[in-house]
Amino acid sequence: MSLLPVVRMGAPVLRRVATTVVDPTHPDINALAQSMMETMVEAPGVGLAAPQIGSSLRLIVMRLIADRSAVDEPLRMTALINPELEPIGDAIELGWEGCLSVPELRGVVPRHARIAYRGWLPDGRRVEGEAEGFQARILQHEVDHLDGILYLDRMRDFATLGYGPEIQAAAAVAQGEDTEL
Ligand code: NI
Repeated sequence: MSLLPVVRMGAPVLRRVATTVVDPTHPDINALAQSMMETMVEAPGVGLAAPQIGSSLRLIVMRLIADRSAVDEPLRMTALINPELEPIGDAIELGWEGCLSVPELRGVVPRHARIAYRGWLPDGRRVEGEAEGFQARILQHEVDHLDGILYLDRMRDFATLGYGPEIQAAAAVAQGEDTEL
């Protein structure tokens, strides 16, 4: 296991549609997921997608946290292979996002408030469930990475785009909202 360099916006891999993982139980996939989790924690971030470390595979890792204010809680995280999402209902929420591949910037992004997800764990188990709020936001942000989409593409109001410290200084965001996905 090792820390992996995170590629930044401009790298073509971030704009490619990533490839389905043929064998979610392959040891190489498990090792990659472990290294991605280490890298995410070290960054620190709350989510990371394989294209962000230069690997065009449909694999994400993420923290399991109910909301932003929980970022200091003990680490719980998971990997999700070949994740699929489906919105539940029509509700859209606006929320701040950042991205390890777009360092320092923050912007307000509309996301589905509730989603159903399914995918595979590295041990071969199929998982499915529902997520809402911040967890749903993380999932949508990370799965977008697998389709070559960055949060900037989802923004509706670029007047909200700015650097974390300046935004915080302007008191436009509450404490704990400077998480990177
Ligand atoms: Ni990101």
